[in-house]
Amino acid sequence: MMDDEELAKVVRDVVLSKLQEKQAQDALSASPEDTSPEGTIPRHTYAEAGNPPLIVAANWKMHMDKRSTTEFAQAFDPPARDDLGVVICPPYYLLSLLKDALGDKPVAVGAQNMHPEPKGPFTGELSPLMLADAGCSHVILGHSERRKNFGETSEKINPKVAAALGAGLAPILCVGETLDQREDGATMRVVTNQLTLSLNRISINEVRPLIIAYEPMWAIGTGRNATPEQAQEVHAHIREVLKQLYSYNVARDTRILYGGSVKPDNAGDLAIQPDVDGFLVGGASLKPDSFTEIIRNALRALEKDGSQG
Ligand code: 13P
Repeated sequence: MMDDEELAKVVRDVVLSKLQEKQAQDALSASPEDTSPEGTIPRHTYAEAGNPPLIVAANWKMHMDKRSTTEFAQAFDPPARDDLGVVICPPYYLLSLLKDALGDKPVAVGAQNMHPEPKGPFTGELSPLMLADAGCSHVILGHSERRKNFGETSEKINPKVAAALGAGLAPILCVGETLDQREDGATMRVVTNQLTLSLNRISINEVRPLIIAYEPMWAIGTGRNATPEQAQEVHAHIREVLKQLYSYNVARDTRILYGGSVKPDNAGDLAIQPDVDGFLVGGASLKPDSFTEIIRNALRALEKDGSQG
């Protein structure tokens, strides 16, 4: 374990190397990436060939089986729209089954973890290539349950993020603080460190498909979601960190999802926060009805919000 001083040094080194990389990139480019206009970053700008402005992802954790997965896939029928991405991340053994059962419904499939190596003597692990072969386009990395129960640190998550991007998978990188850290006023520092260390050596040219999920640990599976204001505050901070590490455009185009006790009745208020670009849903994603309602309530709230200017 690194102490606070060592951690601060590593973070400083990463930020410095990213800054050098950015300067080198800008020097080469006729139109530098970081042409940041004044003011706040506009929400939900549609990045060409990038991620849609609203992404709602399901993390099924260690739930469901073959029968309930097939039934889910038959019943689940989310709206097909260019501005919406729906992703379901089942346990490994259900990946191919889910992919096949969904047919041509507008739903992507992702895994919940991954080993960074392409192949080798790693008993019990799955590689990025295997996930792609099973039909995955996404992979959740660094979920707090893996950090807490399986000793995953941001340093261990970093090569996974790089390997996922290298294999054409969109990583859903999870960050978030514990209740003690929030009460100590350490939320922003914790999230900054998690992001900086997890994105070490990942260049501006590789990072585009990245999705981030802010999941405060005290809100996961507790029924106590972050308030829309709490979520917005951290999401805006994450965007600012991405701007420092990469560029204005990367910060603007990276989708930042909120996770932690998302339900149909809180999805609308969370979705209209300017820096909340969707959700990573646990418990409420296990039933097609409640997962669909989350999607519909988010879309409805955004449409209403937009029409109100
Ligand atoms: P819940 O929605 O059950 O709180 O889980 C959140 C989560 O951990 C998603 O990854």
